[in-house]
Amino acid sequence: MNLLVVGGGGREHAIIKKLKENPTVETIYALPGNGGIAQDAVCVPSIGAKDIAKIVDFATSHSVDFAVVAPDDPLALGCVDRLHEAGIPCFGPVARAARIESSKVFAKNLMRKYGIPTARYEVFGDPAKALAYLRETACFPIVVKADGLALGKGVLIPQNLQEAEAAVKSIMEDKAFGDSGNEIVIEEFLTGPEVSVLAFTDGTAIVPMVSSMDHKRAGDGDTGPNTGGMGTVAPNPCYTPEVAAKCMEKIFLPTLAAMRAEGCPFKGCLYFGLMLTPDGPRVIEYNCRFGDPETQVVLPLLKTDLLTVMLAVEGETLGELQVEWTGGSAACVVLASQGYPGGYETGKEITVPEDLPANVTVYHAGDKLPEDGKLVTGGGRVLGVTATGETLSAALEAAYAAAERVTFDGKYLRRDIGQRALRALEG
Ligand code: AMP
Ligand code: GLY
Repeated sequence: MNLLVVGGGGREHAIIKKLKENPTVETIYALPGNGGIAQDAVCVPSIGAKDIAKIVDFATSHSVDFAVVAPDDPLALGCVDRLHEAGIPCFGPVARAARIESSKVFAKNLMRKYGIPTARYEVFGDPAKALAYLRETACFPIVVKADGLALGKGVLIPQNLQEAEAAVKSIMEDKAFGDSGNEIVIEEFLTGPEVSVLAFTDGTAIVPMVSSMDHKRAGDGDTGPNTGGMGTVAPNPCYTPEVAAKCMEKIFLPTLAAMRAEGCPFKGCLYFGLMLTPDGPRVIEYNCRFGDPETQVVLPLLKTDLLTVMLAVEGETLGELQVEWTGGSAACVVLASQGYPGGYETGKEITVPEDLPANVTVYHAGDKLPEDGKLVTGGGRVLGVTATGETLSAALEAAYAAAERVTFDGKYLRRDIGQRALRALEG
């Protein structure tokens, strides 16, 4: 089979490495891919993940048998719809189903209508009304979210009225996130451990993957600005079998049923961002895709062939498939460019030792391969170093040992990935 993967980050690299394990796979095209992905797939740097028409043209002219659309933007832009129209089977939701991520207003209203537990909220399209609500009714901290996609930056948590007014102004009036801020959700601030659960679903059947924990802040001890994610561990020790059963009953199955009832069944990977509050699990957000860097710890623990699972999702036969996991744990430490998520330099030469142990994989997120063949940095998050192990501490130790040996100028990493999870295991 010839496969096409849309995207070019660490998540896509993890998907591609896993797809390659299937012996029927001949060629994998990555659009655009990146420097490291080029070792595993045929990259097409001239076609970006949002170039929908070019992606469809490429797929039809290169006899692509199956496409995986990984990032949020092309999903929201209807990449899967257009590929389907061209007769190409895909993994990923159609645009109407991707609204579960691309519109927070849609997601919140869905949860309210179908009784899915989430933070209490109000929606505003008029900044004056939002400001009046904040002045009269609000308790702080409070959560202000831009409706649309905002590169993971559209959530603000003001601690007082002054900060809240600034948040509304920046999103709705200064349009910090463009049209994504035409409407906002203002919601109750919840507390508790956060868990990410990615799930395969064909619209009716659902197979949750191993749970995981992200580390979103740039600095140790969860300090500093929010990033795309500085590291992950799986499974997440807070996600006990009891919590999992409750989530299945109160959140996962009701969400699938709600999407079917709205006429937009969700097919693909549905990501549940959950908070385990004292009153039970609540949905913080849905994503219509694999998480990054959650995928880099979840897929290495998947025992069943990934392409088989993806074909079952597309063919709506997931319920007939037994999906198995290896057991054990995985940890991913992100190596970023100094300065990220602010400004940083690129073009620094990267060296990855060739003798890393078999339980370690380096996923390439932001690098490029210039003409001289030397791999250089090209983004904020450059690499994700994942290790698997029988225990979380073994996985962490191996990931950090390997992360030390990978070098580039300005390499920055958090030193405490997994510490919270280890404390939860002990406690
Ligand atoms: P998101 O971009 O939707 O993933 O949100 C970013 C982060 O904001 C989440 O991972 C949470 O830590 C936090 N957050 C979002 N909504 C809430 C909420 N209602 N209460 C507390 N924290 C929240
Ligand atoms: N790591 C969070 C996300 O992919 O949205």
